[in-house]
Amino acid sequence: MPMSLTSDPAVVAPATGHAPKSLPQHVAIVMDGNGRWAERRGKPRNYGHRMGASAVRATVEHCLRRGIPHLTLFAFSSENWARPAGEVSALMGLFLKALDREVGQLDQHGVRLDFIGDADAFSEPLRERMRHAVELTRQNTAIRVNVAVNYGGRWDLAAACRRLAERAVRGELDPASIDISAVAAEVALADQPEPDLFIRSGGDQRISNFLLWQLAYTELVFTETLWPDFGAADLEHAFSEYAARERRFGLTGEQVRRAAQGAP
Ligand code: FPP
Repeated sequence: MPMSLTSDPAVVAPATGHAPKSLPQHVAIVMDGNGRWAERRGKPRNYGHRMGASAVRATVEHCLRRGIPHLTLFAFSSENWARPAGEVSALMGLFLKALDREVGQLDQHGVRLDFIGDADAFSEPLRERMRHAVELTRQNTAIRVNVAVNYGGRWDLAAACRRLAERAVRGELDPASIDISAVAAEVALADQPEPDLFIRSGGDQRISNFLLWQLAYTELVFTETLWPDFGAADLEHAFSEYAARERRFGLTGEQVRRAAQGAP
C-alpha cells in the first residue's frame, strides 16, 4: 500500500486544534497490541504486525501534517528476541520489506530516518537497508523519525556508561567531571530534544524499558486502542491531553505560571 503523505504546505501547518506551542515537539510511542488485535480476529499474530505497519504509516503521516518535528517509535525491544522464533523472523522480514517499500516515499516527503538500538544483532541485508535509509534521508528536515530496534533503555544507559569509562581510561575524561549533561550527551537521541509526550497503545500502563533516561520529564498518555487501530484521532486525543497538562519540571505551579507570563 503506497504511503499517501501529504506535501501540501497548506496542511503541513497545524490546521485545527492547539497553537503550535502547545503541541509536543517530540513524540515517543510504544506500539503495543498487534498480537491481541490479530488474536481477537482469529488471525495469526504476524497479521497484527503487518497491520501495525499501516498504523506506523498513518502516524508518520499525521505527525508530518501537524508539523511535529521528532517522532520515536519502539519497533523491537532487546527483550523481543525471546518471542517464538517464527514471530521474530516474521518481524525481521516485515522491517526489511517496510524499508524496501517505504524509504523512497519517506524521503520524498522530507522524512529523516534514524535507528536507535544495537543493530549488530541484525542480518547483514537488514543492516544494509538501515544504513541506506539513514544515508538517503540524512539531509531531510520535515520530521525526524527514529525507529528503536533491538533497543532497551538499560542497554542505552550501560552503553553510555561504557563509552564514558573508556574515555576516562584513555585519560580523555576526568571521572569527577561526569555529570548529568555528560551522560545526556552519550545516550541515544542526544542530538534531539527529549520527548515531550510518550504514548503507549494497547492498554498497559508501563514504560517497558523504553527511553529510561530521556523520559524523565515526559508527559505519559496511555490508550486502550490496540496499535493496528491507532491513527490520527488517537494522536489528536493524546495531543489534547498533553496540551491540558501543566509541566512543572520540579518547580511549583506558581513559578511555572509566572515564568510563562515573562515574570523574573
Ligand atoms: C507490540 O505488539 C509490537 C511489536 C513487538 C512490534 C512492533 C512492530 C510494528 C508496529 C510493525 C512494523 C513496524 C515498523 C517500524 C515498520 P505485541 O505483539 O506485543 O502485541 P500484544 O501485546 O497484543 O501481544
